[in-house]
Amino acid sequence: MHFIILQTFVWTFLAARESSRHMKLIHQDCLAGMQDMPDESIDIVVTSPPYNLGIDYGTYDDTKDRSSFVTWCQDWASEVHRLLKNDGSFFLNVGAAPANPLLPHQLLLALTESRPEFILQNTFHWVKSITIQTRKGETISAGHFKPINSKRYVNDCHEYLFHLSKSGTVPLNRRDAGVEYADKSNIARWGHTGGQDKRCRGNTWFIPYDTIKSRDKDRPHPATFPVGLVEQCLKLHGLQDDTHLLDPFLGIGTSAVAAYRMKVPHFTGFDIDENYLAVAKERLTKEEEDAAQTLL
Ligand SMILES: C[S@@+](CC[C@H](N)C(=O)[O-])C[C@H]1O[C@@H](n2cnc3c(N)ncnc32)[C@H](O)[C@@H]1O
Repeated sequence: MHFIILQTFVWTFLAARESSRHMKLIHQDCLAGMQDMPDESIDIVVTSPPYNLGIDYGTYDDTKDRSSFVTWCQDWASEVHRLLKNDGSFFLNVGAAPANPLLPHQLLLALTESRPEFILQNTFHWVKSITIQTRKGETISAGHFKPINSKRYVNDCHEYLFHLSKSGTVPLNRRDAGVEYADKSNIARWGHTGGQDKRCRGNTWFIPYDTIKSRDKDRPHPATFPVGLVEQCLKLHGLQDDTHLLDPFLGIGTSAVAAYRMKVPHFTGFDIDENYLAVAKERLTKEEEDAAQTLL
């Protein structure tokens, strides 16, 4: 399928009236858009491309054959590779369908062993729903999932978040993105804590979807990720005065909202669907209004 982009336009937010922060939401095919950006100009990419699972996106046709899909991913990921700085991080969120469980792994093999030769530095599991037993012995469930009506498949409660880099050695802010010790006696027991009540959170991230009242009004998109997932990636990679975050598949702008809240200095996002971008723009406008209210 070919996309005809009738109009390429950019919404530029001078975030919170700070002239040093720029957010660009671009209505354009990301492959073409990224080709106009300079080499090694991006610090962090957090994105969730279409998964080729037949999801009903407004503009994009999510039913390519497997090999064309993987080749297309290699094309845009090669641009990501060119744009990423040598110490940059590429967080790639990919889910699977129960009947199509190998897709994330096939894609990963293509991006690491064939083209563009990223290195898999970490694999995270974005856990959307979980049942645990508390220390008091109570069984509790948290989060949301789509129930599957099947005799052979169980409900799918997680997605992958692959952390790819050019070298495999990008230093991470494990503690900044960490959690407090449940057992405080460990702080003194282990020398590596340096006396701080923060430990690495590990690679299982329980991050439920953002709570909404109305699906059509509050999340008019079939496949979003939560703001907290992007925030966790940003904390882990770390932010500098000139950090540039890119999301080639912006959807309704979740990564832009995370960038706004975490004061990322530069953000660029692409989507081919004008309606999704309009929602992203509304979400950012609301963030700006809320931020202005708190300043009053
Ligand atoms: C899984 S969704 C991303 C959702 C986003 N993470 C969010 O939370 O809103 C994938 C998005 O990619 C967009 N898309 C598909 N092909 C594209 C392309 N060639 N360039 C830019 N965007 C594209 C679709 O319109 C869809 O919104």
